[in-house]
Amino acid sequence: MADTAENIEILVCTGTGGFASGAQKVIDAFEDEFEKQGLEAKVGKRCDIKKTGCRGLCANDVMVDVVMPGEEAITYDFVTPELVPQIVEEHMIGKEPVPKKVAGPYYGQFLEKQQRLIFSRCGTIDAESIEDFLAHKGFTGIRKAVTMTPEEVIEEVKKSGLRGRGGGGFPTGVKWSFCKATPGDEKYLICNADEGDPGAFMDRSILEGDPYGIIEGMMIAAYAIGCTFGYVYCRAEYPLAIKRLQKAIDTCYERGILGENCLDLGFKFDMKIKAGAGAFVCGEETALMASIEGERGMSRPRPPFPAVRGLWRKPTNINNVETFANVSYIFYNGAEWFSNIGTEGTKGTKIFALTGKVKHTGLVEVPAGTAMREVIYDVCGGILNNRKFKAVQAGGPSGGCLPAEALDAQVDYDSLIQAGAMMGSGGLVVMDETTCMVDIARFFLNFTRVESCGKCIPCRIGLKIMLEILERITEGKGQEGDIELLQDMAYDIKKSSLCGLGQTAPNPVLSTIRYFRHEYEAHIKEKECPSHSCKPLLKFEVIEEKCKKCGICPKVCPVDCIAWEKGQVAVIDKEKCTECTSCYDACRFMAIE
Ligand SMILES: Cc1cc2nc3c(=O)[nH]c(=O)nc-3n(C[C@H](O)[C@H](O)[C@H](O)COP(=O)(O)O)c2cc1C
Ligand code: SF4
Ligand code: SF4
Ligand code: FES
Repeated sequence: MADTAENIEILVCTGTGGFASGAQKVIDAFEDEFEKQGLEAKVGKRCDIKKTGCRGLCANDVMVDVVMPGEEAITYDFVTPELVPQIVEEHMIGKEPVPKKVAGPYYGQFLEKQQRLIFSRCGTIDAESIEDFLAHKGFTGIRKAVTMTPEEVIEEVKKSGLRGRGGGGFPTGVKWSFCKATPGDEKYLICNADEGDPGAFMDRSILEGDPYGIIEGMMIAAYAIGCTFGYVYCRAEYPLAIKRLQKAIDTCYERGILGENCLDLGFKFDMKIKAGAGAFVCGEETALMASIEGERGMSRPRPPFPAVRGLWRKPTNINNVETFANVSYIFYNGAEWFSNIGTEGTKGTKIFALTGKVKHTGLVEVPAGTAMREVIYDVCGGILNNRKFKAVQAGGPSGGCLPAEALDAQVDYDSLIQAGAMMGSGGLVVMDETTCMVDIARFFLNFTRVESCGKCIPCRIGLKIMLEILERITEGKGQEGDIELLQDMAYDIKKSSLCGLGQTAPNPVLSTIRYFRHEYEAHIKEKECPSHSCKPLLKFEVIEEKCKKCGICPKVCPVDCIAWEKGQVAVIDKEKCTECTSCYDACRFMAIE
């Protein structure tokens, strides 16, 4: 059999985005076409189809790379089964990529400013193949770690400057040393893959695209701390991630990589997956442990911290998926290499999930310290429909909304906090001028209220009252003093809630008041929504001077509330109007406001 470098490789994105866009049909089409054409005999090469993880540009799936022997990969996007015969005919046999079907210049631009380190195997290796993993440095990190004492391993992680990627940014090496210092033979390791932030899917993509990398990161941590059992707590809404990780765990057991004597390196580590029901609060570490123990996912006060008394009352260390992914690379390349990437306070890269009104939504990995503007404009192509940027919500429901002035802020822990948001797990929701900031605050607060465990009163009752006030404001029933009331309640809830959910839930309200107070005032005082987004505040009216008397709007009105006669200006009956926006969208002369 020919060496891999001599084979033709077809890399098909089979992340969740890829599958949702029809990756399996594309793979089937390639296999059918290979057979029909007798391709291997025709080109004299073996043709491998590899099922990779996410490439980042998920909105353009199905993404396919064709790698001819000794050549750079050529990427196609929006691949359909119908396109496959042409790719095989022209590119694989004719050796000329199919013009116009190759991903456009935006793909090069998308990659240019990124530094895909922890994503380097996602999208390039067969996610389910241990051979591919081994061929890409797999398990060399743990082999290097065991040449050091556990204390030296922890020192190496401290030296790297790695901070936890789950949101808080706590130094990983320091956290490991706490758990190591607690006496006890039985210690637990947990990988937090709950990923509850709306719009975030980086942890899922790492697990889907590089499951062995996470096992390796956990093995290094287990060796350093002295943990004998590990759980990956992953929401059940991630079936592909769970399936691939389970397959990787099973393979590791078959090959003696996990178990009594891992890789014959003289330490024991067992692991399994615990599927969670998918509540945001279950990402909070004490609620997460309750959930693993079979209890309702409710938070408890800390101390005692998990490092002292955690899962099943044993010392426990919890880290995020992306944190463990980083650990493997620190041991492949050394702490110094890692600490040379990023900023003084945030070392390494960070993966962001970009959603909302941005041209290219997806996952982006950049060195910490890259400017927000570069991420949104240079990497992701700017704002959809060339509209104006208004704000970016950074850090999920615990973070905040930043205005245009903050576009030059760096994406690192300290700069984002200074700007009034936070890194969180890396969700960035981009908003344009049509987004109402009061409504956005209402959206996030509704999310945290629904996802709260309800254990403590400030969070359970306080968020509900804040939400009622925000709902009132967006319905045009806001009162003088509402802004101050929201601020007072926000500070009280932050101060008195038991866990991080309640302590951070008011942040989107506070940050929108800080940067967009005028929008709150317009809703309360003028009963107007400056973004024309809050439906109850929309009052549709025909502007007489602009109306060209064309008669289109009455035809689209679903409740027949527009009076019009030939040669006459249209008139909207405001009593009957349901503010459905059909006439506004249909009028070609912008005569309806
Ligand atoms: C409400 C809430 C939700 C959280 N959700 C997650 C999550 O989905 N994933 C995660 O890794 N950390 C989450 N965290 C943070 C974890 O509690 C914990 O700090 C983190 O997993 C530690 O890992 P790290 O040190 O690697 O960041 C959440 C915290 C809170 C308060
Ligand atoms: S702050 Fe909210 S989520 Fe946390 S314990 Fe209290 S009620 Fe539960
Ligand atoms: S569609 Fe516009 S221009 Fe035409 S009648 Fe209605 S308001 Fe006037
Ligand atoms: S899932 Fe295919 S590019 Fe992200």
